[in-house]
Amino acid sequence: MKHTQFSGRLVILGFGSIGQGSLPLILRHIDMDPSLITIITAENRGKDIADELGIKFTVTPITKENYKTVLSPMLGKGDFLLNLSVDVSSVALVELCRELGALYLDTCIEPWAGGYTSADATPSERSNYAMRETMLALRTNGPAPTALVTHGANPGLVSHFVKKAMLNIARDTGLEVTPPKTRAEWAQLGENLSIKVIHIAERDTQVAGNTPKQVDEFVNTWSIDGFISEGCQPGELGWGTHEKHFPADGGRHDFASGAAIYLNRPGASVRVRSWTPTEGPFHGFLITHSEAISIADYFTLNDGSLRYRPTVHYSYHPCDDAVLSVHEFVGKNYNQQSRQRLMLDEITSGVDELGVLLMGHKNGAYWYGSQLSIDEARKLVPYNNATGLQVSVSVLAGMVWAIENPSSGVVEPDEIDYHRILEICEPYLGPVIGAYSDWTPLQDRETLFPEDVDRDDPWQFKNFRVI
Ligand SMILES: NC(=O)c1ccc[n+]([C@@H]2O[C@H](COP(=O)([O-])OP(=O)(O)OC[C@H]3O[C@@H](n4cnc5c(N)ncnc54)[C@H](O)[C@@H]3O)[C@@H](O)[C@H]2O)c1
Repeated sequence: MKHTQFSGRLVILGFGSIGQGSLPLILRHIDMDPSLITIITAENRGKDIADELGIKFTVTPITKENYKTVLSPMLGKGDFLLNLSVDVSSVALVELCRELGALYLDTCIEPWAGGYTSADATPSERSNYAMRETMLALRTNGPAPTALVTHGANPGLVSHFVKKAMLNIARDTGLEVTPPKTRAEWAQLGENLSIKVIHIAERDTQVAGNTPKQVDEFVNTWSIDGFISEGCQPGELGWGTHEKHFPADGGRHDFASGAAIYLNRPGASVRVRSWTPTEGPFHGFLITHSEAISIADYFTLNDGSLRYRPTVHYSYHPCDDAVLSVHEFVGKNYNQQSRQRLMLDEITSGVDELGVLLMGHKNGAYWYGSQLSIDEARKLVPYNNATGLQVSVSVLAGMVWAIENPSSGVVEPDEIDYHRILEICEPYLGPVIGAYSDWTPLQDRETLFPEDVDRDDPWQFKNFRVI
């Protein structure tokens, strides 16, 4: 089924795990001429796939110096730049697309190479909060070519899960609501439901049974460079109005909304307690992600003074070999292993359980999301594992939305039609379920040792954090 028609040129920048996974979906669901698609990337990886699908493939690493000269002849009014690369500045690309009249989508706000780990920048300057603000500063009054930023799985799809989950909780707790239409109405619903905390709670159990991680090797189910970069950024979280204990290593930004705070340590070294339906309780990494900031910001109620905001952050248990890889990487004081392996064909089993965990309401905790297995992912689309497909299908849905809404300027996932995105994504997400739990981060605590916990309010960040 074709979701929309597109007659412009499409440039796909970067052709790693997400680029390769997205291309077959684009060809399947967007009615366009494949000869108008060009891939630009920094290496030969994926050339065989491009050749098989009959798509032009060019190896031209994009830099600050060459991006305008390389991309300008390939993009004009009504064309589309799909940025699935690492190390190329999203802000520079959005500005260029605006000048040229082209549509734009990415799955992460990337800086130029080195931007995540520059020792000359303060933790606040190296944060996703700062990168997001630089992107939002490009907003203008009046129409501009649509630039849908951070529309992968997370960030991206999870923002739509949050809205669906809130409506489900309202239904299940007997709160009568008409589906909100504006940002203020959504935030009001969050407050009415008493949602105090939202985790992006993910447990990836994919495993390569015959090919375990080797010493001095980083193994993951998606970009290893991307994971390492964000793991080295400060841990970041949207900071809720119910929080009573500011972290001793926390920092506040001295600019913009103040919706999020950062921790003065890399996210790869911060762990939090969380819960998903199949796994139950687990420790996840609090890795910074822009949805932790954008969702917290979107659901903020401010009537002269700050009234309501949930705490929002990622709690990521990557596949077991990636956990070992992070352990080894952090143990070498954040020096990368000499080898990387992105798991695809060698995966023998597993599920990526990716959803949002909304806590503090009448029914305690509610997880809503996708439980996509490797077997189902393989049946649905080639060149994807379960993790990649959750991202790729959201890229497809975001592209469809951008083509249907071409003059919206810079937009985030929270601001677009969650219905349209979910209807496109759902056939590719495996079981999409909601599950309640009586779990709290205080469960089974203080049995053998005293702990510094807040028994008056289980939903304090201090209770989630693993010290
Ligand atoms: N939002 C999400 O859910 C989500 C999930 C996974 C990945 N991502 C993001 O998507 C992006 C791609 O992820 P991936 O897993 O495909 O990464 P990958 O590492 O598998 O591939 C990266 C691609 O970028 C290309 N590249 C690197 N430097 C380049 C340059 N200077 N010019 C042009 N191309 C260049 C590489 O050649 C490669 O093709 C990353 O920014 C990652 O953080 C987002």
